Amino acid sequence: MKVIKTVQLMQKTAMKLKRKGRRIVLVPTMGYLHNGHLSLIKKARKTAGANGVVVVSIYVNPTQFGPNEDLSRYPRDLKRDLDLIRPLNVDIVFNPSDKEMYPGKEEGLYSTYIVEENLSKNMEGSSRPGHFRGVATVVGKLFNIVMPDAAVFGEKDYQQAAIIKRMVKDFNFPLKIVVSPTVRESDGLAMSSRNSYLNESERKQATALFRAIQYAKNAVSKKGTINANDLKNELKNLIEKEPSGRVDYIEFFDPETLQPVSKVRSGAHLALAVYVGKTRLIDNASL
Ligand code: PAF
Repeated sequence: MKVIKTVQLMQKTAMKLKRKGRRIVLVPTMGYLHNGHLSLIKKARKTAGANGVVVVSIYVNPTQFGPNEDLSRYPRDLKRDLDLIRPLNVDIVFNPSDKEMYPGKEEGLYSTYIVEENLSKNMEGSSRPGHFRGVATVVGKLFNIVMPDAAVFGEKDYQQAAIIKRMVKDFNFPLKIVVSPTVRESDGLAMSSRNSYLNESERKQATALFRAIQYAKNAVSKKGTINANDLKNELKNLIEKEPSGRVDYIEFFDPETLQPVSKVRSGAHLALAVYVGKTRLIDNASL
């Protein structure tokens, strides 16, 4: 497993591999890996095939964090990450510095960003202004640096995956996007690097997100069609029964257009963001 730290060497390596006809599959991550990431990497290994090359990028991208978000305390441990992925037959870890990814930014000499203007309007987009501009920009840059034939993203970030797919289509990036299912703890909590912020009591309360999803699924399967605002209120009550639970948003929407629906039926998608103490968690599911 090779660790590459510079854009120049990564691009040179990618070009060499492509000339030899080797397929490159990228898994973009911000590190502090958990089983959810490991399942994305296994998916990438399968997608790449025996002769293919799996690249995992580990980079905490500052441009996708708002000024009051958790950039400085976001967990980082490269050694631990490398130990976790070594057994998974990963070929290359791309681990650049901020200076490599955003040259001249400190001096005001970095000024180009990718902005998706439709799917990024609501949910994470309205709750975290500028977040998807940072995500689309760094992912676009990673595509130009790693030159993958395919890239694997987690379904846990449903809106992110939809925006990346749209960006790939709109900007003619020559690769396939593979979306891989959410991996959950045994009590249903979706795996996330941010779960490491939770204390013992918050960790228990955090299952409220999954319980809310189950509640919504049951409600739809029992009643058929439900008024979205009514169901939102019921889920909010369920979550805020937890002493540290506070809903940021609950949204029911069309899984393709991400447009909110006023009537919730089978096939509608639910996404939610919830603060458990100071930690903001997200989850989503098809109903
Ligand atoms: O999903 C993530 O971890 C990040 O948003 C990504 C795609 C690696 C971009 O920084």
